[in-house]
Amino acid sequence: MPHTDVSTAAGYLSGRFPVKPSVAAILGSGLGFLAESVENAVEIPYESIPGFRKPTVKGHAGTMVCGRFAGKDVAFMKGRYHFYEGHAMKDVTFPVRVLKELGVETLVITNAAGGINPFFEVGDLMLLSDHINFGPNPLIGMHQEGLEQFVSLDGLYSPELRKIALRIAEDENIPLREGVYLYTTGPSYETKAEIRCFHRIGADAVGMSTVPEAISARHIGISRVAAISLITNKTLGNFIPTHEEVMETSRKSRDYFARLVMRLISQL
Ligand code: HPA
Repeated sequence: MPHTDVSTAAGYLSGRFPVKPSVAAILGSGLGFLAESVENAVEIPYESIPGFRKPTVKGHAGTMVCGRFAGKDVAFMKGRYHFYEGHAMKDVTFPVRVLKELGVETLVITNAAGGINPFFEVGDLMLLSDHINFGPNPLIGMHQEGLEQFVSLDGLYSPELRKIALRIAEDENIPLREGVYLYTTGPSYETKAEIRCFHRIGADAVGMSTVPEAISARHIGISRVAAISLITNKTLGNFIPTHEEVMETSRKSRDYFARLVMRLISQL
């Protein structure tokens, strides 16, 4: 498919958005409900945005919601693109570049993930402290004039935002851990041997998203990125994950997940 440029998509959205968003969030599997709390919301389906594709995963609505949330001008992505759907990496990360063009300086990325750390419980949240990328690098072929070719990922997951999130969690009694997220393309779940391997190399959770978006955000200069996983299932040991289990845990954790994200955004 021909590649629509970022400014065409950004122009389309800014002509329809009620505010100029400074904060964006990508809402993963079963977490799109957060967008219901956006005030004066304008909701735009991905299919109508130039350059966007239609998401194909259950639990991913595929709309962009813009308005006021927790006292900030926000754009929320209800659902995202995954590499495993067959999209090119440049399409998976396209919305992030569009958000930057719209003026977004802070990006909060959410996802559902399998817990590898044996101390993590189903329903825990995990703030990403770092990642291990077992997928293709989303910056391959993306070099452009004025941007760094060899991008440092040091401090990718903002230490400042992590500190704020941990303080909120303590305050609100929210089960928030910190850890390393390992990205694999999926869509098959991991074998037991892979999970044992990931455990040994230092991963606390595993999932099929977030890393391409976070790397892309750093590349184009989005100032601050925070990423939060919902641990929807255990993986280390005799566990067989299912998408139903992932969605069920998402439903159960709605309240505290929403509280954490809302308070985090209000304190930016
Ligand atoms: N593995 C990979 N991705 C996931 C998992 C898992 O166990 N659970 C939710 N997303």
